[in-house]
Amino acid sequence: MPKIFVTRQIPDTGIKMLKAKKFKIKINPYDRVLSQAEIIKMGKGSDALLPMLTDKIDAKLLDGLGKQLKLVSQLAVGYDNIDLPACKDRNIKVTNTPGVLTESVAEHTFAMIMSVTKRILEADKFTKAEKYKSWAPMLFLTPLLEESTLGIIGLGRIGSLVTKKAVIGMDMKVVYTDIKRNKDFEKKYKAKYVSLSVLMKTADVISVHVPLLPSTKHLVSKKLISSMKKTAYLINTSRGPVIDEAALYQALIKNKIAGVALDVFECEPKIACTAEMRKSIKKLDNLIITPHMASATFNARHKMSEICAKNIIAHFAGKKLFTPVKY
Ligand code: DGY
Repeated sequence: MPKIFVTRQIPDTGIKMLKAKKFKIKINPYDRVLSQAEIIKMGKGSDALLPMLTDKIDAKLLDGLGKQLKLVSQLAVGYDNIDLPACKDRNIKVTNTPGVLTESVAEHTFAMIMSVTKRILEADKFTKAEKYKSWAPMLFLTPLLEESTLGIIGLGRIGSLVTKKAVIGMDMKVVYTDIKRNKDFEKKYKAKYVSLSVLMKTADVISVHVPLLPSTKHLVSKKLISSMKKTAYLINTSRGPVIDEAALYQALIKNKIAGVALDVFECEPKIACTAEMRKSIKKLDNLIITPHMASATFNARHKMSEICAKNIIAHFAGKKLFTPVKY
């Protein structure tokens, strides 16, 4: 039976499905990311690899695993860690896990929007420090989201769901930008299509939902960041390098914008690329950071594990892949 190497412990939903079909499964026994050399050592001879977004899948790794490798079934919707041309050259199919983490990421995005604009962490810290002495009319003022405009960069599955929640749940106004316009969506949610530069200048809360591609690296550039309103917030639950993070942090440090919430980082897992910047940002009360956990619901993780298994089973049964990555 085909051999599968899983580069990290994952929910057993998919593992059980594979075991039921008698696949030979080997799982990284350690609770950490493996080096490429370790993946090659442990996974050599595998027919399929089940990697995470933290594994660099390039020609060296593919060759190290051996010519029998025919499928990379990634446990993530994003696949910027995979060298697609290298897979294509070797006739190795690639699959990802779209669709099953949309709700989870949209909910986390919303949690970040609410926390940063409503100053929840700052207020919690203040209250726990027993600094709260009396109700005061000027204490912890925050913007009213109902009067605010949300700017969505990327109206894919997640960007659309965040928009829906903002309009239906919070009565926010929405402007969006994307490579394609969606007039039906605009009508349904009273969303307005604008250019990225107009969005950056006019939105009160900006939320980023684009994949990392060569064309989206530093899409949110220093210039665009400098055009944001002084009262605006920026949220990123997509991929760190989509934003010029150093410029964003500088804008926050210099009080040029109101707040930032990030689930992803340019030099991930580092929260900033330089030690100096890491030290400075830790002092910021208007910065909320979480460890790339936007999709971390029990629901999403089980379904992600399940899709990976379904793709592996389909592939080795000679059937159509469920969620192939096109290359
Ligand atoms: C993804 O799937 O790409 C997310 O970033 C992690 O689940």
